[in-house]
Amino acid sequence: MATAVITGSGRGLGRADAERLARDGFDVVCLDLDLASAQETADAVGGVAFQCDVTDRDSLMSVAAQIPECHALVNNAGIWRFDSILTMTPQDAQAVFDVNIMGIVWCTQAFVPKMKAAGTGSIVNMSSGAAWTHSPGLGLYPATKSGVESLTRTMALELGADNIRANAIGPGLIVSEGTSANYEGERAAERAKGVPMGRVGSPSDIADVVSFLCGNDSRYVSGQIIYVDGGITAGAMAR
Ligand SMILES: NC(=O)c1ccc[n+]([C@@H]2O[C@H](COP(=O)([O-])OP(=O)(O)OC[C@H]3O[C@@H](n4cnc5c(N)ncnc54)[C@H](O)[C@@H]3O)[C@@H](O)[C@H]2O)c1
Repeated sequence: MATAVITGSGRGLGRADAERLARDGFDVVCLDLDLASAQETADAVGGVAFQCDVTDRDSLMSVAAQIPECHALVNNAGIWRFDSILTMTPQDAQAVFDVNIMGIVWCTQAFVPKMKAAGTGSIVNMSSGAAWTHSPGLGLYPATKSGVESLTRTMALELGADNIRANAIGPGLIVSEGTSANYEGERAAERAKGVPMGRVGSPSDIADVVSFLCGNDSRYVSGQIIYVDGGITAGAMAR
């Protein structure tokens, strides 16, 4: 049986990833800042939960020491603090950088040794369509997600010889607990008009691609960025 570690799996996309990978047969390890929600996910999928902040390298090392193996790592935890470049605060900018960039680096340092021991592994990093489209007022978020894509390529280059693959997914407009306020009332229909496929996405739209990237069907896919966004990043829509 293979083991998958999923960060930020207490809710949203991470939770859907946990549900899908458990259905695929993975033993699932759920990490989240919020232990209660991580435990809820773990209980639902027959996995285990740890309270863990991905910016805390020591805490990640401690989790890694407590699990026997890791074959898949989904670096899903991410945050946003939308603001303009001119007014973003040092605190917000640092927080977004620490979680979205350094969180991925520390998780990779913690869990890749187990992949090397197993002789195989798949890392899936959560980027964002915002890394491609960019919009004013998103603060450091798009820059960090572009950084996630750069990190992904570096990981693919550094880890390929160990039979460890690294890819990223760029979700588009996905309704999660973290984004649900953007889709209240008429706003969901309004936002859907900007999506070529005419609908906003659900966490399972992302989880199904996570499943592909963690599974054997993608065994020769590495260093790639897959946008799962109903076509948004294909180009501009006339409105
Ligand atoms: N929902 C979208 O439309 C969308 C679009 C593009 C990219 N994304 C990316 O997908 C990922 C998940 O987004 P979501 O919408 O499910 O978010 P969400 O806010 O609904 O859930 C995020 C989860 O991560 C956890 N988390 C946050 N900081 C953490 C930390 N430091 N350590 C451990 N856990 C932490 C939270 O407790 C929460 O359970 C993020 O990386 C986000 O940037 C989402």
